[in-house]
Amino acid sequence: MNPTPLTGAVQRDSALTNPRAVSPSERRYLQLLKEVIIDVDNAHRFQLTPYPPDRSYWLKRTAINSLINTLSKKGLTITGVNARGATDREIGLGWPINGYSMIGMKRLNNIQYCLEQVFADGIPGDFIETGVWRGGACIFARAICEVYNENRNIWVADSFEGLPKPNVELYPEDKGDDLYSIEQLRVSLEQVQENFKRFDLLDDKVHFLKGWFKDTLPSAPIEKLAVVRLDGDMYESTMDALKSLYPKLSTGGFLIVDDYGVIPACRKAVHDYRDEHGITDEIIDIDGSGHFWRKSGN
Ligand SMILES: C[S@@+](CC[C@H](N)C(=O)[O-])C[C@H]1O[C@@H](n2cnc3c(N)ncnc32)[C@H](O)[C@@H]1O
Repeated sequence: MNPTPLTGAVQRDSALTNPRAVSPSERRYLQLLKEVIIDVDNAHRFQLTPYPPDRSYWLKRTAINSLINTLSKKGLTITGVNARGATDREIGLGWPINGYSMIGMKRLNNIQYCLEQVFADGIPGDFIETGVWRGGACIFARAICEVYNENRNIWVADSFEGLPKPNVELYPEDKGDDLYSIEQLRVSLEQVQENFKRFDLLDDKVHFLKGWFKDTLPSAPIEKLAVVRLDGDMYESTMDALKSLYPKLSTGGFLIVDDYGVIPACRKAVHDYRDEHGITDEIIDIDGSGHFWRKSGN
């Protein structure tokens, strides 16, 4: 196998590639799907979230978080208007109110790029995302496989109840991480399945792994992976996923890390794992937050 080498900036934007031709209407379907998944039409509206980095000091952050969480439990959201919304949505800043993914257009393009490359190069294996929120990135991956008539499984791994509390004895890098307290990050399995149905993409190729990664991933009945997308934010979540999944990633497959550019603990987990396993494949920036590399060795 001799995978197509990554060249310059092109690999960031699948719209520029198209290694195997699909019809114009199929390409338009995928484009429209991306726009719906990130809710481009309402890009100027955002939901107030407790997410860093703009409210960094503890008291302010705690007060705002508890207000947002209390409202969220009642199904209420504080919304605002952001004139830069469309630009933000391009790079996955801000969480959409009604969209299905928070990762933005460039990172969706990157999923498309990676899948189109593994199809074109005949790299075997499935797609997995660890940390799916409302499921939009996995829904999009399923749609791409369908358009290309590729018989690959989509593994959808999440607790479906938010992030774990930091285990600082084992993972001191996660000390102070309070993402576990965010109500808006708890999306049930049933809701994610409904979201797949909304696009008529829930079928026997889609498999849900419900639970903490440390419990579900080591024994998951996955044989081979072609694209692994890590979006668990924390050191623990990133490391648990790498340990279980990287050995199953085919040579020529892609490893994507959503928060590499913005969460230091996540970045550290990636480098600790790479150092331990002598991985030197070039890490490529997608949009400042998401990064990825193509696996060259076993
Ligand atoms: C930032 S969200 C993912 C965003 C999503 N990829 C998207 O496209 O919008 C993080 C997700 O990771 C999940 N998560 C984080 N750490 C986890 C762990 N250790 N085990 C299970 N789920 C985890 C959370 O439940 C949450 O749904």
